[in-house]
Amino acid sequence: MSNTNSSVSDQALAGWYDVDPTNTDLKPNPHPYYKHLREAQPVNLTPVGDWRLSNYADIQKLLKHSHSGMRNLDGLIPGESREQTEASKFMLRMDPPDHDRLRNLVSKAFTPRSLSTMRPTIELLVSAELDRVGPQGEMDLVADLALAAPAASMCAMLGVPFEDRHELTELVSLVTYRLAKNAYPHLQKESEAAIMKLANYMLLLIEERRTHPTDDILGQLVTAEEADDRLSNDELLQQSIGLLVAGLETTIGLIANGMVCFARYPQEFEKLAADPTLAGSAVDECLRFEPSVPITRRILWEDTEFSGTVIPANASVFAILIGANRDPQYFTDPDRFDITRREAKHCSFGGGIHFCLGSHLARMNAEVAFNHMAQRFTAIEVNESDIEWAPSLFRIPGKIPARFQLR
Ligand code: HEM
Repeated sequence: MSNTNSSVSDQALAGWYDVDPTNTDLKPNPHPYYKHLREAQPVNLTPVGDWRLSNYADIQKLLKHSHSGMRNLDGLIPGESREQTEASKFMLRMDPPDHDRLRNLVSKAFTPRSLSTMRPTIELLVSAELDRVGPQGEMDLVADLALAAPAASMCAMLGVPFEDRHELTELVSLVTYRLAKNAYPHLQKESEAAIMKLANYMLLLIEERRTHPTDDILGQLVTAEEADDRLSNDELLQQSIGLLVAGLETTIGLIANGMVCFARYPQEFEKLAADPTLAGSAVDECLRFEPSVPITRRILWEDTEFSGTVIPANASVFAILIGANRDPQYFTDPDRFDITRREAKHCSFGGGIHFCLGSHLARMNAEVAFNHMAQRFTAIEVNESDIEWAPSLFRIPGKIPARFQLR
Protein backbone atom coordinates (compact mmCIF):
# COMPACT_ATOMS: atom_id res chain seq x y z
CA MET A 1 0.00 0.00 0.00
CA SER A 2 1.24 3.50 -0.72
CA ASN A 3 1.42 5.75 2.30
CA THR A 4 2.52 9.34 2.73
CA ASN A 5 3.88 8.40 6.13
CA SER A 6 6.32 5.61 5.40
CA SER A 7 6.64 4.69 9.09
CA VAL A 8 2.99 3.64 9.16
CA SER A 9 2.43 0.14 7.77
CA ASP A 10 -0.85 -1.58 6.94
CA GLN A 11 -0.27 -3.69 10.01
CA ALA A 12 -0.06 -0.67 12.27
CA LEU A 13 -3.34 0.68 10.90
CA ALA A 14 -5.07 -2.67 11.07
CA GLY A 15 -7.22 -4.08 13.85
CA TRP A 16 -10.56 -3.42 15.51
CA TYR A 17 -9.03 -1.10 18.15
CA ASP A 18 -11.60 -2.51 20.63
CA VAL A 19 -14.37 -1.31 18.30
CA ASP A 20 -15.70 -4.45 16.64
CA PRO A 21 -19.15 -3.37 15.40
CA THR A 22 -20.61 -6.84 16.03
CA ASN A 23 -19.92 -6.43 19.77
CA THR A 24 -23.38 -5.93 21.29
CA ASP A 25 -21.88 -3.86 24.15
CA LEU A 26 -21.58 -1.03 21.63
CA LYS A 27 -25.34 -0.58 21.15
CA PRO A 28 -26.32 1.11 24.43
CA ASN A 29 -23.39 3.54 24.62
CA PRO A 30 -21.08 3.42 21.61
CA HIS A 31 -19.55 6.86 22.14
CA PRO A 32 -16.56 6.02 24.36
CA TYR A 33 -15.61 3.30 21.86
CA TYR A 34 -15.76 5.60 18.85
CA LYS A 35 -13.90 8.33 20.75
CA HIS A 36 -11.17 5.79 21.41
CA LEU A 37 -11.09 4.79 17.72
CA ARG A 38 -11.01 8.44 16.54
CA GLU A 39 -8.14 9.18 18.90
CA ALA A 40 -6.19 5.92 18.46
CA GLN A 41 -6.63 5.32 14.72
CA PRO A 42 -8.89 7.70 12.76
CA VAL A 43 -7.85 5.98 9.52
CA ASN A 44 -8.26 2.30 10.27
CA LEU A 45 -8.01 -0.88 8.21
CA THR A 46 -10.33 -3.42 9.85
CA PRO A 47 -9.55 -7.14 10.05
CA VAL A 48 -12.33 -7.82 7.51
CA GLY A 49 -10.65 -5.62 4.90
CA ASP A 50 -12.91 -2.55 5.06
CA TRP A 51 -11.44 0.82 6.04
CA ARG A 52 -13.00 3.15 8.60
CA LEU A 53 -12.74 6.91 8.93
CA SER A 54 -13.93 8.54 12.11
CA ASN A 55 -12.97 12.18 12.19
CA TYR A 56 -15.16 14.95 10.77
CA ALA A 57 -12.76 16.40 8.20
CA ASP A 58 -11.91 13.02 6.66
CA ILE A 59 -15.57 12.05 6.45
CA GLN A 60 -16.53 15.33 4.78
CA LYS A 61 -13.68 14.78 2.32
CA LEU A 62 -14.81 11.22 1.58
CA LEU A 63 -18.48 12.10 1.07
CA LYS A 64 -18.18 15.45 -0.68
CA HIS A 65 -14.78 15.82 -2.28
CA SER A 66 -13.35 12.42 -3.16
CA HIS A 67 -13.48 10.51 -6.42
CA SER A 68 -15.63 7.68 -5.13
CA GLY A 69 -18.98 5.97 -5.48
CA MET A 70 -21.06 2.98 -4.45
CA ARG A 71 -19.37 0.45 -6.76
CA ASN A 72 -15.75 -0.26 -7.54
CA LEU A 73 -13.95 0.46 -10.80
CA ASP A 74 -15.24 -2.80 -12.32
CA GLY A 75 -18.81 -1.76 -11.51
CA LEU A 76 -19.07 -4.33 -8.69
CA ILE A 77 -20.39 -3.76 -5.19
CA PRO A 78 -17.62 -5.13 -2.91
CA GLY A 79 -18.64 -8.35 -1.21
CA GLU A 80 -21.24 -9.12 -3.90
CA SER A 81 -21.04 -11.28 -7.05
CA ARG A 82 -21.67 -9.73 -10.47
CA GLU A 83 -25.12 -11.26 -10.47
CA GLN A 84 -25.92 -9.80 -7.04
CA THR A 85 -24.53 -6.40 -8.04
CA GLU A 86 -26.62 -6.34 -11.19
CA ALA A 87 -29.71 -7.17 -9.18
CA SER A 88 -28.99 -4.27 -6.79
CA LYS A 89 -30.80 -1.23 -8.14
CA PHE A 90 -31.78 1.02 -5.23
CA MET A 91 -30.41 4.54 -5.83
CA LEU A 92 -28.17 4.36 -2.74
CA ARG A 93 -26.29 1.48 -4.34
CA MET A 94 -25.97 3.13 -7.77
CA ASP A 95 -23.57 5.62 -9.34
CA PRO A 96 -24.40 8.28 -11.94
CA PRO A 97 -26.01 8.40 -14.41
CA ASP A 98 -28.46 5.73 -13.13
CA HIS A 99 -28.35 7.13 -9.60
CA ASP A 100 -29.40 10.59 -10.78
CA ARG A 101 -32.19 9.27 -13.01
CA LEU A 102 -33.66 7.20 -10.16
CA ARG A 103 -33.31 9.98 -7.56
CA ASN A 104 -34.92 12.55 -9.89
CA LEU A 105 -37.94 10.32 -10.40
CA VAL A 106 -38.98 10.56 -6.75
CA SER A 107 -37.28 13.70 -5.46
CA LYS A 108 -40.26 16.01 -6.11
CA ALA A 109 -42.25 14.20 -3.44
CA PHE A 110 -39.57 15.00 -0.83
CA THR A 111 -39.38 18.78 -1.05
CA PRO A 112 -40.46 20.66 2.12
CA ARG A 113 -43.39 22.09 0.13
CA SER A 114 -44.76 18.72 -1.00
CA LEU A 115 -44.28 17.32 2.48
CA SER A 116 -46.08 20.17 4.23
CA THR A 117 -49.43 18.78 3.03
CA MET A 118 -48.73 15.71 5.16
CA ARG A 119 -48.05 17.60 8.38
CA PRO A 120 -51.68 17.96 9.62
CA THR A 121 -52.21 14.19 9.29
CA ILE A 122 -49.03 13.48 11.27
CA GLU A 123 -50.06 16.00 13.96
CA LEU A 124 -53.47 14.32 14.30
CA LEU A 125 -52.03 10.85 14.49
CA VAL A 126 -49.41 11.67 17.13
CA SER A 127 -52.00 13.59 19.10
CA ALA A 128 -54.40 10.61 19.04
CA GLU A 129 -51.65 8.24 20.26
CA LEU A 130 -50.81 10.58 23.12
CA ASP A 131 -54.51 11.05 24.04
CA ARG A 132 -54.65 7.30 24.43
CA VAL A 133 -51.55 6.83 26.62
CA GLY A 134 -51.65 10.16 28.50
CA PRO A 135 -53.95 9.05 31.33
CA GLN A 136 -51.82 5.93 31.98
CA GLY A 137 -48.70 7.88 32.96
CA GLU A 138 -46.54 5.32 31.19
CA MET A 139 -45.86 4.33 27.62
CA ASP A 140 -43.52 2.51 25.27
CA LEU A 141 -41.76 5.38 23.51
CA VAL A 142 -41.31 3.19 20.42
CA ALA A 143 -44.75 1.60 19.92
CA ASP A 144 -46.78 4.53 21.29
CA LEU A 145 -44.82 7.43 19.81
CA ALA A 146 -41.81 6.80 17.57
CA LEU A 147 -43.52 4.35 15.24
CA ALA A 148 -46.67 6.36 14.63
CA ALA A 149 -45.51 9.35 12.57
CA PRO A 150 -42.90 7.69 10.32
CA ALA A 151 -45.14 4.69 9.70
CA ALA A 152 -48.05 6.95 8.77
CA SER A 153 -45.96 9.11 6.46
CA MET A 154 -44.13 6.21 4.80
CA CYS A 155 -47.38 4.26 4.40
CA ALA A 156 -49.11 7.32 2.90
CA MET A 157 -46.23 8.09 0.53
CA LEU A 158 -45.85 4.53 -0.68
CA GLY A 159 -49.51 3.60 -0.40
CA VAL A 160 -48.77 0.79 2.04
CA PRO A 161 -51.59 -0.24 4.45
CA PHE A 162 -50.95 1.32 7.89
CA GLU A 163 -51.97 -1.87 9.73
CA ASP A 164 -48.92 -3.65 8.28
CA ARG A 165 -46.46 -1.28 10.02
CA HIS A 166 -45.26 -3.64 12.76
CA GLU A 167 -44.45 -6.51 10.42
CA LEU A 168 -42.76 -4.16 7.93
CA THR A 169 -40.59 -2.59 10.64
CA GLU A 170 -39.28 -6.01 11.66
CA LEU A 171 -38.42 -6.98 8.08
CA VAL A 172 -36.76 -3.64 7.38
CA SER A 173 -34.48 -4.06 10.44
CA LEU A 174 -33.15 -7.38 9.19
CA VAL A 175 -32.54 -6.04 5.69
CA THR A 176 -30.04 -3.45 6.99
CA TYR A 177 -27.39 -6.15 7.61
CA ARG A 178 -26.91 -6.42 3.84
CA LEU A 179 -25.08 -3.09 4.04
CA ALA A 180 -22.18 -4.59 6.00
CA LYS A 181 -21.79 -8.12 4.67
CA ASN A 182 -18.15 -8.57 5.69
CA ALA A 183 -18.80 -7.80 9.35
CA TYR A 184 -22.09 -9.76 9.56
CA PRO A 185 -21.73 -12.90 7.38
CA HIS A 186 -23.82 -14.94 9.86
CA LEU A 187 -26.88 -12.72 9.39
CA GLN A 188 -26.98 -12.69 5.59
CA LYS A 189 -29.42 -15.61 5.23
CA GLU A 190 -32.00 -13.99 7.50
CA SER A 191 -31.46 -10.69 5.76
CA GLU A 192 -32.02 -12.25 2.31
CA ALA A 193 -35.20 -13.95 3.54
CA ALA A 194 -36.51 -10.60 4.83
CA ILE A 195 -35.82 -8.97 1.47
CA MET A 196 -37.69 -11.72 -0.36
CA LYS A 197 -40.71 -11.22 1.92
CA LEU A 198 -40.63 -7.46 1.33
CA ALA A 199 -40.29 -8.03 -2.41
CA ASN A 200 -43.31 -10.32 -2.53
CA TYR A 201 -45.29 -7.84 -0.45
CA MET A 202 -44.39 -4.90 -2.70
CA LEU A 203 -45.03 -6.84 -5.92
CA LEU A 204 -48.66 -7.30 -4.91
CA LEU A 205 -49.02 -3.55 -4.28
CA ILE A 206 -47.36 -2.74 -7.60
CA GLU A 207 -49.69 -5.10 -9.48
CA GLU A 208 -52.67 -3.45 -7.81
CA ARG A 209 -51.52 -0.06 -9.11
CA ARG A 210 -51.22 -1.31 -12.64
CA THR A 211 -54.99 -1.87 -12.65
CA HIS A 212 -55.93 0.93 -10.23
CA PRO A 213 -53.48 3.86 -10.67
CA THR A 214 -52.82 6.00 -7.57
CA ASP A 215 -51.17 9.33 -6.88
CA ASP A 216 -48.74 8.15 -4.17
CA ILE A 217 -45.02 7.61 -4.91
CA LEU A 218 -45.56 3.98 -5.77
CA GLY A 219 -48.32 4.95 -8.20
CA GLN A 220 -46.08 7.63 -9.72
CA LEU A 221 -43.20 5.21 -10.07
CA VAL A 222 -45.47 2.68 -11.77
CA THR A 223 -46.45 5.23 -14.39
CA ALA A 224 -43.05 6.94 -14.43
CA GLU A 225 -41.40 7.82 -17.65
CA GLU A 226 -38.38 9.99 -17.72
CA ALA A 227 -36.81 11.05 -20.99
CA ASP A 228 -38.87 8.26 -22.58
CA ASP A 229 -37.15 5.84 -20.28
CA ARG A 230 -39.68 3.87 -18.28
CA LEU A 231 -38.31 2.30 -15.12
CA SER A 232 -37.57 -1.38 -15.39
CA ASN A 233 -39.58 -3.73 -13.18
CA ASP A 234 -36.53 -4.41 -11.03
CA GLU A 235 -35.76 -0.73 -10.58
CA LEU A 236 -39.34 -0.02 -9.62
CA LEU A 237 -39.46 -2.83 -7.08
CA GLN A 238 -36.13 -1.87 -5.54
CA GLN A 239 -36.93 1.83 -5.21
CA SER A 240 -40.11 0.95 -3.32
CA ILE A 241 -38.39 -1.51 -0.97
CA GLY A 242 -35.38 0.79 -0.62
CA LEU A 243 -37.49 3.80 0.33
CA LEU A 244 -39.21 1.79 3.03
CA VAL A 245 -35.88 0.51 4.38
CA ALA A 246 -34.28 3.97 4.20
CA GLY A 247 -37.17 5.85 5.75
CA LEU A 248 -38.99 3.78 8.32
CA GLU A 249 -36.75 2.56 11.10
CA THR A 250 -34.23 5.39 10.65
CA THR A 251 -36.90 7.89 11.67
CA ILE A 252 -38.24 5.62 14.42
CA GLY A 253 -34.66 5.62 15.73
CA LEU A 254 -34.38 9.41 15.56
CA ILE A 255 -37.57 9.93 17.59
CA ALA A 256 -36.90 7.12 20.07
CA ASN A 257 -33.21 7.95 20.67
CA GLY A 258 -34.16 11.62 20.86
CA MET A 259 -36.73 10.98 23.59
CA VAL A 260 -34.09 9.07 25.57
CA CYS A 261 -31.89 12.20 25.35
CA PHE A 262 -34.78 14.33 26.64
CA ALA A 263 -35.32 11.92 29.53
CA ARG A 264 -31.59 12.05 30.34
CA TYR A 265 -31.39 15.87 30.09
CA PRO A 266 -34.74 17.17 31.42
CA GLN A 267 -33.58 20.79 31.39
CA GLU A 268 -33.31 20.58 27.58
CA PHE A 269 -36.82 19.11 27.40
CA GLU A 270 -38.12 22.03 29.46
CA LYS A 271 -36.40 24.48 27.09
CA LEU A 272 -38.33 22.92 24.22
CA ALA A 273 -41.59 22.99 26.18
CA ALA A 274 -41.08 26.72 26.85
CA ASP A 275 -40.20 27.50 23.23
CA PRO A 276 -41.58 25.13 20.55
CA THR A 277 -39.69 27.05 17.84
CA LEU A 278 -36.58 25.26 19.13
CA ALA A 279 -37.91 22.00 17.65
CA GLY A 280 -35.76 22.33 14.48
CA SER A 281 -32.47 22.75 16.33
CA ALA A 282 -33.55 20.11 18.89
CA VAL A 283 -33.99 17.58 16.08
CA ASP A 284 -30.55 18.40 14.72
CA GLU A 285 -28.99 18.00 18.15
CA CYS A 286 -30.68 14.59 18.56
CA LEU A 287 -29.37 13.59 15.13
CA ARG A 288 -25.89 14.66 16.13
CA PHE A 289 -25.90 13.25 19.65
CA GLU A 290 -27.55 9.83 19.15
CA PRO A 291 -27.73 9.16 15.39
CA SER A 292 -29.85 6.20 14.29
CA VAL A 293 -27.63 5.53 11.24
CA PRO A 294 -24.05 5.32 12.53
CA ILE A 295 -22.27 4.64 9.23
CA THR A 296 -22.33 4.99 5.47
CA ARG A 297 -19.93 3.73 2.82
CA ARG A 298 -18.08 4.70 -0.36
CA ILE A 299 -15.72 2.84 -2.68
CA LEU A 300 -12.67 4.87 -3.71
CA TRP A 301 -12.03 5.27 -7.43
CA GLU A 302 -8.44 6.47 -6.95
CA ASP A 303 -5.76 6.43 -4.24
CA THR A 304 -6.85 9.09 -1.75
CA GLU A 305 -5.14 10.62 1.25
CA PHE A 306 -6.89 10.94 4.60
CA SER A 307 -5.08 12.44 7.61
CA GLY A 308 -1.71 11.56 6.10
CA THR A 309 -2.57 8.00 5.07
CA VAL A 310 -3.27 7.02 1.48
CA ILE A 311 -6.10 4.53 1.06
CA PRO A 312 -5.85 2.69 -2.26
CA ALA A 313 -8.33 2.80 -5.14
CA ASN A 314 -11.11 0.19 -4.96
CA ALA A 315 -10.99 0.13 -1.14
CA SER A 316 -14.30 -0.04 0.71
CA VAL A 317 -14.37 2.84 3.18
CA PHE A 318 -16.92 3.25 5.97
CA ALA A 319 -17.59 6.77 7.25
CA ILE A 320 -18.22 6.49 11.00
CA LEU A 321 -20.82 9.27 11.16
CA ILE A 322 -21.42 8.69 14.87
CA GLY A 323 -17.71 9.36 15.57
CA ALA A 324 -17.55 12.51 13.42
CA ASN A 325 -20.59 13.96 15.21
CA ARG A 326 -18.58 14.17 18.42
CA ASP A 327 -15.31 15.36 16.94
CA PRO A 328 -14.09 18.06 19.35
CA GLN A 329 -12.40 19.90 16.47
CA TYR A 330 -15.86 20.79 15.16
CA PHE A 331 -18.20 20.64 18.16
CA THR A 332 -17.43 22.44 21.41
CA ASP A 333 -17.84 20.13 24.39
CA PRO A 334 -19.21 17.41 22.07
CA ASP A 335 -20.57 15.18 24.85
CA ARG A 336 -22.96 17.92 26.00
CA PHE A 337 -26.55 17.69 24.71
CA ASP A 338 -27.65 21.23 23.89
CA ILE A 339 -30.74 21.87 21.76
CA THR A 340 -29.71 25.47 21.11
CA ARG A 341 -26.34 24.45 19.64
CA ARG A 342 -25.50 26.30 16.42
CA GLU A 343 -22.25 24.89 15.05
CA ALA A 344 -20.98 22.69 12.26
CA LYS A 345 -23.58 20.50 10.60
CA HIS A 346 -23.77 16.95 11.92
CA CYS A 347 -22.99 14.10 9.51
CA SER A 348 -26.06 11.96 10.24
CA PHE A 349 -27.65 12.37 6.79
CA GLY A 350 -24.39 11.62 4.92
CA GLY A 351 -23.25 13.98 2.16
CA GLY A 352 -22.58 14.61 -1.50
CA ILE A 353 -24.90 13.25 -4.19
CA HIS A 354 -26.29 10.56 -1.87
CA PHE A 355 -27.23 13.02 0.91
CA CYS A 356 -30.38 11.63 2.53
CA LEU A 357 -33.36 12.32 0.29
CA GLY A 358 -35.77 11.99 3.21
CA SER A 359 -34.07 14.43 5.57
CA HIS A 360 -36.95 16.96 5.50
CA LEU A 361 -39.50 14.21 6.05
CA ALA A 362 -37.53 12.76 8.97
CA ARG A 363 -37.14 16.22 10.51
CA MET A 364 -40.83 17.01 10.14
CA ASN A 365 -41.86 13.75 11.80
CA ALA A 366 -39.48 14.28 14.71
CA GLU A 367 -40.42 17.94 15.22
CA VAL A 368 -44.10 16.99 15.50
CA ALA A 369 -43.37 14.11 17.89
CA PHE A 370 -41.04 16.12 20.17
CA ASN A 371 -43.32 19.18 20.32
CA HIS A 372 -46.42 17.15 21.16
CA MET A 373 -44.53 15.33 23.92
CA ALA A 374 -43.09 18.55 25.34
CA GLN A 375 -46.43 20.38 25.30
CA ARG A 376 -48.28 17.62 27.15
CA PHE A 377 -45.85 15.79 29.40
CA THR A 378 -43.01 16.48 31.81
CA ALA A 379 -40.64 14.46 34.02
CA ILE A 380 -40.06 11.75 31.41
CA GLU A 381 -38.32 8.83 33.11
CA VAL A 382 -36.47 6.09 31.23
CA ASN A 383 -34.34 3.43 32.87
CA GLU A 384 -31.83 3.01 30.06
CA SER A 385 -31.00 -0.56 31.06
CA ASP A 386 -34.64 -1.45 30.16
CA ILE A 387 -34.22 -0.40 26.52
CA GLU A 388 -34.57 -3.29 24.08
CA TRP A 389 -32.74 -2.89 20.77
CA ALA A 390 -34.21 -3.89 17.41
CA PRO A 391 -32.20 -6.52 15.49
CA SER A 392 -30.73 -3.92 13.11
CA LEU A 393 -27.34 -2.79 11.87
CA PHE A 394 -28.50 0.68 12.88
CA ARG A 395 -29.17 2.03 16.41
CA ILE A 396 -32.90 1.51 16.58
CA PRO A 397 -34.62 0.84 19.91
CA GLY A 398 -37.35 -1.82 19.74
CA LYS A 399 -38.90 -0.95 23.10
CA ILE A 400 -38.42 1.87 25.63
CA PRO A 401 -40.63 1.71 28.73
CA ALA A 402 -41.11 5.26 30.06
CA ARG A 403 -43.04 7.03 32.79
CA PHE A 404 -44.14 10.66 32.69
CA GLN A 405 -46.40 13.24 34.30
CA LEU A 406 -49.04 15.39 32.65
CA ARG A 407 -48.23 19.11 32.51
C1 HEM B 1 -33.60 10.14 10.88
C2 HEM B 1 -33.91 9.57 9.78
C3 HEM B 1 -32.93 9.28 8.69
C4 HEM B 1 -31.58 9.16 8.74
C5 HEM B 1 -30.67 9.28 9.96
C6 HEM B 1 -31.13 8.88 7.40
C7 HEM B 1 -29.81 8.72 7.03
C8 HEM B 1 -29.38 8.50 5.74
C9 HEM B 1 -28.00 8.30 5.37
C10 HEM B 1 -26.82 8.30 6.33
C11 HEM B 1 -27.98 8.12 4.04
C12 HEM B 1 -26.71 7.84 3.19
C13 HEM B 1 -26.14 9.15 2.75
C14 HEM B 1 -24.76 9.04 2.17
O1 HEM B 1 -24.23 7.92 2.02
O2 HEM B 1 -24.17 10.09 1.87
C15 HEM B 1 -29.33 8.20 3.55
C16 HEM B 1 -29.69 8.06 2.24
C17 HEM B 1 -30.99 8.02 1.83
N1 HEM B 1 -32.11 8.23 2.60
FE1 HEM B 1 -32.17 8.66 4.55
N2 HEM B 1 -32.21 8.84 6.57
C18 HEM B 1 -33.33 9.08 7.32
C19 HEM B 1 -34.63 9.15 6.88
C20 HEM B 1 -35.03 8.95 5.59
C21 HEM B 1 -36.39 9.01 5.12
C22 HEM B 1 -37.61 9.36 5.97
C23 HEM B 1 -36.37 8.72 3.82
C24 HEM B 1 -37.54 8.69 2.89
C25 HEM B 1 -38.13 7.69 2.51
C26 HEM B 1 -34.98 8.50 3.43
C27 HEM B 1 -34.54 8.19 2.17
C28 HEM B 1 -33.22 8.09 1.80
C29 HEM B 1 -32.80 7.80 0.43
C30 HEM B 1 -33.71 7.58 -0.76
C31 HEM B 1 -31.40 7.77 0.46
C32 HEM B 1 -30.48 7.50 -0.73
C33 HEM B 1 -30.19 8.80 -1.43
C34 HEM B 1 -29.29 8.65 -2.63
O3 HEM B 1 -28.65 7.60 -2.80
O4 HEM B 1 -29.23 9.59 -3.43
N3 HEM B 1 -34.19 8.64 4.54
N4 HEM B 1 -30.17 8.45 4.62
